[in-house]
Amino acid sequence: MTIAGNWKMFFGPEPMELADLDAIVAPPYTRLVDCVEAGLTTYAQNVHWEPQGAYTGEISAPLLLALGVRGSIVGHSERRQSFGETDETVGLRTRAALDAGLHVIACIGETREEREGGEMENVLRRQLSVLEPHPNLVIAYEPVWAIGTGLTATPEICRDTHGFIKTIIDVPVLYGGSVNPGNAEALLSQPCVDGALVGGASLDVESFTAICQTAARIHS
Ligand code: PGA
Repeated sequence: MTIAGNWKMFFGPEPMELADLDAIVAPPYTRLVDCVEAGLTTYAQNVHWEPQGAYTGEISAPLLLALGVRGSIVGHSERRQSFGETDETVGLRTRAALDAGLHVIACIGETREEREGGEMENVLRRQLSVLEPHPNLVIAYEPVWAIGTGLTATPEICRDTHGFIKTIIDVPVLYGGSVNPGNAEALLSQPCVDGALVGGASLDVESFTAICQTAARIHS
């Protein structure tokens, strides 16, 4: 069971307060060193496919590895929606990061219109078509309509969609989208749910700790 906290563009909590948790944190770049030095399993929120070069504003796998960073989120829906991320670039980023030795949490998920229009399976199949199974690859299923909205996929939607994803790619699948201490148990106890990618609730030490404790209890 994997619990990962995506701090997005927020300063985030004091890393030492999270030191005892069995969890991944993905802070903004300026806090990567603090998190690594606190002994946390630290991921970036994005990674470029070239090892170096004239790519202003990007970061590469070798640069992250040199800092002690262990992995990266790739293809988050906020990058897809607001920063021109495509399935193709998600594939390039993921492959380069895995080849370099980073772990990857690759995010997929449909919008509300796509789900209501019966397109969910096609969208997920297309997003997954650029990814291949790898021991260091994890998928995060994050329905766009559930991210930061307080709307969570029901445990049944989670179970069914994760089951569908696993028929296409056999790697662990995390759920993401408004996970909080109140719904973590119901979501994480579903079959095919291998953990959670937590946004808003990962910024609060008490909430994130509670989610990690729930995951540990379910796992034991
Ligand atoms: P949320 O974000 O938990 O705030 O919905 C999840 C994510 O975007 O990874």
